[in-house]
Amino acid sequence: MLTSVQDQGLIKQQVFIDGQWCDSISGDKYDVTNPATLDAIASLPYCSASDCAAAVEAADKALASWRLWPAKKRAQVLRKWADLILAHQQDLAVILTVEQGKPLAEAQGEIAYGASYAEWFGEQAKRIDGDLIPAPDGNKRIMCIKQPVGVVACITPWNFPNAMLARKIAPALAAGCTVVCKPSEETPLSALAIAELAQRAGIPDGVINLVIGDVPAIGEVLTQHEKIAKLTFTGSTKVGKQLLAQCASTVKRTSMELGGNAPFVVFADADIDAAVQGLLVCKFRNAGQTCVCANRILVHSSIHDVFVEKLVAATQALRLGNGLDQGVDVGPLISQAAVAKVDGLVQEALAQGAELKCGGRRQGDSQFYQPTVLTQCHEQMRIFKQEIFGPVAAIYRFDDDEQALAMANNSEYGLASYFYTRDLSRTFKFSEALQYGIVGVNEGIISNEMAPFGGIKQSGSGKEGSKYGIEDYLSLKYICLGL
Ligand code: SIN
Repeated sequence: MLTSVQDQGLIKQQVFIDGQWCDSISGDKYDVTNPATLDAIASLPYCSASDCAAAVEAADKALASWRLWPAKKRAQVLRKWADLILAHQQDLAVILTVEQGKPLAEAQGEIAYGASYAEWFGEQAKRIDGDLIPAPDGNKRIMCIKQPVGVVACITPWNFPNAMLARKIAPALAAGCTVVCKPSEETPLSALAIAELAQRAGIPDGVINLVIGDVPAIGEVLTQHEKIAKLTFTGSTKVGKQLLAQCASTVKRTSMELGGNAPFVVFADADIDAAVQGLLVCKFRNAGQTCVCANRILVHSSIHDVFVEKLVAATQALRLGNGLDQGVDVGPLISQAAVAKVDGLVQEALAQGAELKCGGRRQGDSQFYQPTVLTQCHEQMRIFKQEIFGPVAAIYRFDDDEQALAMANNSEYGLASYFYTRDLSRTFKFSEALQYGIVGVNEGIISNEMAPFGGIKQSGSGKEGSKYGIEDYLSLKYICLGL
């Protein structure tokens, strides 16, 4: 419950524009609900295009001075922001669980994950180096400097309402950009709480602005306003394509973290217990609602039955429930529509010959979906082609490496992929042949602030985190020096 949050100043029911907490111009509001209890937990401003345009003006005004702050000073406030996020880890985790549903321990992990981006990019702010390059003509030099791209629009999803926003705001601010953020309407409280902490850390008015409300109207401003230089988006491929098209009219820079359809391949020589454990965290983290979740589990025929037996036992031991309750491993799905979609994929697979090993149903009318294992799945099923975004492990058989690779790469998506083997030669060859931006070898969790997160194909473009992540927020300028 939000009443258990110690620092009630973190619970904001207003949006944040130019350093001010405010209502929407129209006064319109909407309710945010807890996906575990379906209770309304907060009433938030429902912003329109005009509110968003005001946020863009504020970010543009703040840009003039923020971009000139010395890198070391920007680093210091980002570090302070990270420290404040960590100091309020428990409160932020409760807010996150209440609005999003994930188990409290996972929410605490997400808060630390979000803070790690503020810390990392604070450090990277001091490493935005240029180049001095010899020219073909000896009387010239080529100087390259990196500058902030300008005002950045950040659109973030409900599945990681803290970390996905921190992963965008931190590099933007480190680079000297200002931001207008639109977190998901389903989970705005986590975003508003970290904006409050950013203000307490000393980040100046207008550098971070945050609006929520009328999604198409706000989206139009963020993609078409001339004062916005770049859009960074995490969400579905379908919405990403629409946003890309809308950005074309003003030729904005874009970074897109879109959908995934991760293969998780278990070879005959794998450590089966390690593969089961890796799959459990990869598949059931956040109730299967991550874009790097294992979506298609390919198991070598020779170990299929023993792997399935162990996986089913481990899946049946998972506790489904309200994320605030102790010992819960899997929380609710975000909405009734999400439950209907997941159940539709499961029922259709069953009708096409899949075998149900456990789970396979929602609980009553709630948004809880039982952790599920399906075997005998095949490539013609919709569950093979689509991102499930729910706690459903769909298992496929393969007989050799060539078949495993063809099945793994048989997707329009290219975000994360995983495989388990003890063979060094296969480790290299299979990693190199996978058409994915991220490969986990004998690892089910691949995300951290020091690694480049991002996909290829229809999973998007750009990298978040790592030394590469800041480049998306910088423009390279070439200055020709005549000597
Ligand atoms: C996502 O699902 O969008 C991100 C997951 C992660 O950062 O691990």
